[in-house]
Amino acid sequence: MKAISMFRRCLSTPTLSQVKKLEPPGPKFEDLPSYNAYDPERMHLLWEDLSKQYGPVFQVKNSSEPSMYFLSDVQDIHKMFKVTAKNPIRPFFESYRVVRERNENNFFEQGKLGLMCQHGEEWWRVRSKVQVHTNKPQTIATYIPKMDDIGKEFVERMAKLRNENNELPDDFIKELYKWALEIMALVSLNKRIGGFEGSEDSKKLTEAADKIMANIAECEYGDKSWRHTPTAAFNTLKENHDFWIRYTESEVNKCYEELLSNKPDGSKPLNVMESMLLTPGLSRKDVIITMMDFVMAAIDTTAQTVAFTLYSLASNPQQQKRLQQEIDSIGGDAEDGLTSSQMANIPFLPNRFLKKHFDCFPQVH
Ligand code: HEM
Repeated sequence: MKAISMFRRCLSTPTLSQVKKLEPPGPKFEDLPSYNAYDPERMHLLWEDLSKQYGPVFQVKNSSEPSMYFLSDVQDIHKMFKVTAKNPIRPFFESYRVVRERNENNFFEQGKLGLMCQHGEEWWRVRSKVQVHTNKPQTIATYIPKMDDIGKEFVERMAKLRNENNELPDDFIKELYKWALEIMALVSLNKRIGGFEGSEDSKKLTEAADKIMANIAECEYGDKSWRHTPTAAFNTLKENHDFWIRYTESEVNKCYEELLSNKPDGSKPLNVMESMLLTPGLSRKDVIITMMDFVMAAIDTTAQTVAFTLYSLASNPQQQKRLQQEIDSIGGDAEDGLTSSQMANIPFLPNRFLKKHFDCFPQVH
């Protein structure tokens, strides 16, 4: 099976109301195996087992909320994304949204909870303005020199971590998470956090991000009584979420102050945070929330993508060689640093290798 995608509450769309009429088979939520029956980090195995049992379209019925529908045919998934593109409704992260809705840290304005928690018009208000910058090559290119530095530091670090057999440690994935946080901090906190050197800030941010992700999983898959009474998992999620949002607030405020004193005149391209801060219709809080959502959406996905990419390359030495030759032919020894035009000339990795790779190892189910 290549991929499983899940959606819920999209039933207003014509295609999905047809699905409703068809009433695909599937178990009731309360009949699902208990949370502990599957490793929380391998929940896709549960969905895979159910899809073997019920077929390529199945539902999980829930008495208190709309059914969840699961697709495992790539064509169906493609159609579902297309039909819901303008108004996607992502069912997970309910606990993340509830932390923001309850607003115990008095940060959020009513109904303005960020890309990962909103749907409909409010989602589009922010999304339509953010994507102008995140899709602009000139804006993205502002990160290349520093991203390149991070990449070089990481490669040097990998070389040092190798043992006498040239192998990396078993917990190498932790290193990839450090790298992912370092590059995401560059975008969403507008600075290096010194994760490779183990700075105090990077330790606190890493611990808080880990706790946010782990406790979202626990709230979403486990005991749901936090909906009525805060549980330990919900409280830990809330505390660490507060830490991240306040930390991000302070860095976005610094960036804003610098922008005011530098008075940009358009001669130098701005990065994503700077561009968003100067976008009419986006408030400072919109920027802070979006920056935090970037990190939460990007760390797992990016680190796991690189982990599986390295695995695929190691398992396919010929393809690895081809990629190496391609990179060497455009980059040489890259002593002067990577440029955006060099990056645009690496067609094999993004166009062929990564497409095939995502087909085999979809990072988000
Ligand atoms: C290879 C790495 C990545 C993968 C596989 C990935 C995958 C995804 C997927 C499948 C979605 C849900 C789309 C949907 O339901 O419509 C998503 C949403 C999102 N991703 Fe990524 N992502 C990756 C990297 C990133 C990065 C680097 C960032 C930030 C710079 C990011 C930020 C977001 C945000 C903010 C959303 C929510 C968007 C919205 O609701 O408008 N992702 N990602």
